[in-house]
Order: sequence, then structure tokens, then C-alpha cells
Amino acid sequence: CGIVGYVGPKQAQDVVVEGLRRLEYRGYDSAGVALVIPGGASGVIAEAKKAGKLANLEKVIADSTLPPSHTGIGHTRWATHGAPTDANAHPHLGSERRVALVHNGIIENFAELRTRLEDDDHVLLSETDTEVAAHLLELAVAAGADLTTAMQQVCRRLEGAFTLVAVDAHDPDRVVAARRNSPLVVGVGEGEHFLGSDVAAFIEHTREALELGQDQVVTITRDAVAITDFDGRPGEGRAYHVDWDLSAAEKDGHDWFMRKEIFEQPRAVADSLLGRRSTSGLLQLDEMRLSDDEIRDIDKIIIIAAGTSFYAGMVAKYAIEHWTRIPVEVELSSEFRYRDPILDHSTLVVAISQSGETADTLQAIRHARSQRSKVLAICNTNGSTIPRESDAVIYTHAGPEIGVASTKGFLTQLVACYLLALYVAQVKGTRFGDEIEEVMSQLEAMPDHIATVLAGAEQVYDLARAHTGTRSVLFLGRHAGYPVALEGALKLKEIAYLHAEGFAAGELKHGPIALVEQGLPVLCVVPPRGRDQLHEKMISGIQEVRARGAQTICLAEEGDTRIEPYADVLIRLPKVPVLLQPLVAVVPLQLFACELATALGHDVDQPRNLAKSVTVE
Ligand code: G6P
Repeated sequence: CGIVGYVGPKQAQDVVVEGLRRLEYRGYDSAGVALVIPGGASGVIAEAKKAGKLANLEKVIADSTLPPSHTGIGHTRWATHGAPTDANAHPHLGSERRVALVHNGIIENFAELRTRLEDDDHVLLSETDTEVAAHLLELAVAAGADLTTAMQQVCRRLEGAFTLVAVDAHDPDRVVAARRNSPLVVGVGEGEHFLGSDVAAFIEHTREALELGQDQVVTITRDAVAITDFDGRPGEGRAYHVDWDLSAAEKDGHDWFMRKEIFEQPRAVADSLLGRRSTSGLLQLDEMRLSDDEIRDIDKIIIIAAGTSFYAGMVAKYAIEHWTRIPVEVELSSEFRYRDPILDHSTLVVAISQSGETADTLQAIRHARSQRSKVLAICNTNGSTIPRESDAVIYTHAGPEIGVASTKGFLTQLVACYLLALYVAQVKGTRFGDEIEEVMSQLEAMPDHIATVLAGAEQVYDLARAHTGTRSVLFLGRHAGYPVALEGALKLKEIAYLHAEGFAAGELKHGPIALVEQGLPVLCVVPPRGRDQLHEKMISGIQEVRARGAQTICLAEEGDTRIEPYADVLIRLPKVPVLLQPLVAVVPLQLFACELATALGHDVDQPRNLAKSVTVE
């Protein structure tokens, strides 16, 4: 989501709406603003909010003429809890309409806070996790706290990841914000201050910024910025000067949205894992809408998807079969629909789609439901058609993906697939608490591992720049590394327009090895060294291509010395279990494609002939 706050001499409405326009790439399913209309104890909040793109909000504002104000907040939303409707759009207000609040992130303990508020006769108007924070904040200011103290008190009660920005109608010259695990920067002007989820929100007005630390509360007035921690102890931000232009600012300093999205993956994976464990340690999938009985009835799973999402489905097969012992088929949506598939009420069809609008996948789920199968969607776009037409849904929380070639969408789909597999295993009793907890802990460590891979980006960039003259690249993988190889090849085709093929390493000798000639780059996803023979078998495959002159570029885990003699180039991956390895192994392949396409002078975000969501069959 995109967040803006302003206090200063200008018309707040103009500054806030302009800021939202600059942040629209962060979310665009609804938008809203709240302004403080001063008047001492009779000051009020004026607000406007609307589902759909920012243009819809602008129309509402133009029709309603909000009163002049110098203090305001705004929000452009990418739904996590609750569909993208007018009621769920931010800002949210307390019962007395004294406090208005916007929020980015996920409040994990909102259900229990909401129940307590409702027990005390609060009426909540939306399905969002945000509204509880607005009510709590208003209770605190009504009890006499100033907005800053109230924010500190409320933050101490919240779990999860959040940026909150709030105003109080009785205190017109102050905007207060807080952050935990979710971005927030302050724009420092002369006689005015700004807040934004990133600097694009205010870069037209000032290039001086302050980055907030973890668990900090910031209060801005016209002349001052005050920072504390959640306990009220004074703190400091990190001051910096922004020398990017506006278009780079939207991309957080990156040249492409795709590159920005690759670097957002630790955050996206962490967000997709938030709130999935109950206090008792059991896995919970809130939005899932399938009963335990329905899950126990499943005797076959068919995964359908297109493009990158299809490769997430291939990884899912390994995980679901391993943990649940339910047979899984994975099929391209466009093929599934027209082959008269065998389906009945005990088949679960899982449709994976980042956009939720892919026509091939939509037609496939319609067919599955007409055959009485249950359909579960894994989707990144709240309120889109595929989850609406499915029986159940798991939302990924990648945030909007702008680059046409999917990156963070893919990683969060993998997370959702692992969660689904573990959840079904928990309900069916094929895996027990301890083991599920162990895998959850391993998953929760993945954002750090992905960050480690990203920290090594330069090595991959150098490699990519050395391959601008390459006409063809092969990718090899085995087991869960096989779909990673396919995805690595797809990325290169999509944005670098190179001939690239992914193969199962064991299949090499049955044909593809004939393609190998002197100097051909072959990227090899090496499985972790385990008790099985996967690793050794992979090495045999690598030896075969190397003996025929290929340049072997191996992705192998830290400490794997056995691979060294067979790798012309070695890219290290963190040590993780084989089933989870795709979450780290695909990252260098994304970086490789992005850098190679950039070096070749292509438009990485909008590659030729491709569309982000394909709504025709
Ligand atoms: C298009 C995009 C791909 C994407 C595929 C499936 O072809 O260019 O990047 O993987 O659609 O999209 P979905 O939104 O259903 O995941």
C-alpha cells in the first residue's frame, strides 16, 4: 500500500492526492484521504474514500469539495484483509470520528482485538485489520493521551507488520506515524513535513529525508520532527539526501520495477507467512473456507496454472505429495480444460494465479466446478475474478507486481503452496505438530536466506554482463530444482529474448545433450547434499555437459565442496532443505535475466509481445 501524510502551509488535499498518484504503483484497488478541519474541541475530520483506482477518488473529491485544511493523510490500498470495497478503503475512523488512520501491513492479532472492541459495543464498519487500530487510538486520546502517546500505547498492543499514520481532529497541527517491519520515511521541508511509504510521495517538495528505524513512532508538525520508540524513549532517524529523479524514486532507486520487486522478496515472503500460526502453534489459513471434513475427503489434487505460476505448481507437487501422500497432478490451464479431465467431488483443484484474471485458468476452474470439484485459488490480487469464482482462497501478500515477468509473485506462490501442503497434512494427520513447526521455522528463516542471496547480486551481474554475446543458455535441475531450471529459462526468454531451455538433469542424456557445444553456458541448480542420491546424480549430469565443452555455472549450497571441480562458476546458496530450495535458488536466475536484459538494452518491465495478465484464451 502507499501512504502519505502532510502538515504545512499548502492545501493538504492537493499534496496528499499528488503524493498518492506518485505511489499508485504500490497499490490501486482503492484510495482515500482524511483532512483535519481545525476548530479546537469541535475540530472535525473530513474524509473521502473510494474503491478502484485513484481516479475514482479524485472524482469523488471533485464532486464533494472538501473544506480547506493544512493537515492530512492518504492511502492507496492493495487489499490484504477484506475485499477492495468503499467500506474497506482507508482511512478508517474511530466511533466518534475524532481519529483517522491509514495502515500498510498486516496486524496479526486483529481478530482478538476486534472481539474485545465489539464486546465493548464498538461498531466496526469494515472487514479490515486496520479499523481496530483506529478505534484503539481514539479510545486512548479520549482518555486524555495526546496522539503521540496514544500511538505508542496502541503499538505496544499490536502484533505483525505495520506502518500507521494518524491524525486527531482536536489536534490539527500534528500527524503521528509508527512503523514496525513496514516502510516509512519522513520528508523534511521548510515549515512543512511529509510522511510517505517511500520518497516518491514527496520528492516534488523536498529531497531531504529521514528514514525511520524499527519500532519507532514519529510526530511531525510544521516545524519539528520528534522520534521515539514504542515506550516513548527518544530516538533518531537516519537523515539522507535523495538524488534520484521521480521515476527512480517510484522504483526505490532501482532502474526497473522488476529489479525492485526482486529485492522486495524477503519482505514479500515474510508478509506471506505472517499470521499463519495460531497461538497454540497450529497452522491456520483464515481465508481458506474449506472445512476439515472437505479436506479429509480429498483423494486427488490437480494444480492448474499458466506461465511462472505453473512452475510454482510443479514445486508444489513435490511438497504436497511428500507431506500429505495425496497424489498431485500439475497441468497447464490451457491444456486441462480441453482434455476432458477426470474430476469428481473428492478432487481438489488448486488454481495458482498472481493476477487472478488469467482467462485460461478462469475457464479451467469453471470447468472443474461444473464437475463438482472444489477449487482453491492461490492469488495475489484480492477481489479478482479467480478467487471470487473459487470455493476457497489463499492470498499471497507480495503487494502489487508491476514488472510483467513475475518474481516476488512466484516466491510468494511457493510459500502459499508450502502452507497449503502443511495445512492439509495437519488436518489429515499425515504429519504431526513437531514436524509442521519445524518446517514453519525453516520457512520463517527464508527471508534472511533470500536477503543473503541478494547481497551477492554483484557476482551474478558480472556474470550476466559477460554473456551479452550468448545466443542460447541451458538450465538443469532435479527434483524441486527442475521447475527452478524451467523458471530460470522462462525469465531469460521473457525479458532477454534469448533462446533458453530448462531440463530435468536426468533427461539430458535422452536428447538435450546433443545441443551442447563448446562454450554453451549451462546453469545448474545443484540440490543440497542429503541422504538420498540426488546430489550425486546431479553431479553426473554436470560432468556430462562439461565433458562436451559446456561452461557450467553451478548454484550450490554453502559448504558443498564436492561440486567445486565441476563448476566453472560457482554461485553459493544458503543451506536449506531440498523442498524449500526453490525459494533461494531462483533468485540468482532472476537477477541474471534482469541484468542480461538490461545490458542488452531491453525494456525489462514491459517486454515485447507480453502482457501482465492475459485475459483472452
Ligand atoms: C502472463 C505473464 C506471466 C504470468 C502468466 C500467468 O503470461 O506474462 O508472467 O506468469 O501470465 O499469470 P497469472 O496472473 O495467472 O499468474
